[in-house]
Amino acid sequence: MLKANGINKRYGHQIVLQQASLEVKSEIKALIGINGSGKSTFLKIVAGIVEPDEGQVVINERDVSSLPPELRHVGYVPQHPALFKHLTVKDNVLYGLRKEAKVDYMKVVEMLDIKDVLHKRPHELSGGYKSRASLARALVPQPQILLMDEPLTGMDVVLKERILPDFRRVLKELQVPVLYITHDPKEAELLADSYAIIDNGKIHSVNTSIEAFDIIHNSILQAYSC
Ligand SMILES: Nc1ncnc2c1ncn2[C@@H]1O[C@H](COP(=O)(O)OP(=O)(O)O)[C@@H](O)[C@H]1O
Ligand SMILES: [Mg+2]
Repeated sequence: MLKANGINKRYGHQIVLQQASLEVKSEIKALIGINGSGKSTFLKIVAGIVEPDEGQVVINERDVSSLPPELRHVGYVPQHPALFKHLTVKDNVLYGLRKEAKVDYMKVVEMLDIKDVLHKRPHELSGGYKSRASLARALVPQPQILLMDEPLTGMDVVLKERILPDFRRVLKELQVPVLYITHDPKEAELLADSYAIIDNGKIHSVNTSIEAFDIIHNSILQAYSC
């Protein structure tokens, strides 16, 4: 479970996050916002990659605000998931797994349907399989929360419609809480249980993806004055 409280972040004179707060319980929560609204910054603050000016990050009742990323037990799938080029899919998935950890990684591999490509290298994979392998790599160390930053950007919508229900099934079965960032309410709808909007440096919960879509739509119109 994640609680981020009163996060402030500015870059120079630009205020990116202003008292941004968000809670993720045992659920898949989509955080939706237009480009440049501070989604990635917020996620990196939760992961410990970026330091906030103010605010607190609590994961499973533990204040991790001053801990480095590797001690936070979060899984992080960045915007352009980079698999190690020189490693096979199997070695990529096992990368970062502590030696003493006795994880049945084959369970994750089977659930994500990547068993047949374990011996391949990333350049031999389609976009869909790259995404599956990146998710497997983040899940195998059994994170307390999984953070995903628009991992399917650039993927064809038809493929998204196939892959997201698969992702949802796996995440639900493993019961890992997820914060999934997207600028696409449709993507959010295919994956998430609940929705939040990031707008003007603040985060608000919304009840439906339609509500999210309306707010995002208005933000875009305002941002581009059209
Ligand atoms: N390291 C940085 N240095 C300066 N400005 C940054 C940095 N990272 C992000 N920003 C700015 O902060 C704003 C929010 O960025 P970001 O969190 O990447 O937004 P999003 O992920 O919603 O597109 C943008 O205007 C971006 O240019
Ligand atoms: Mg981003």
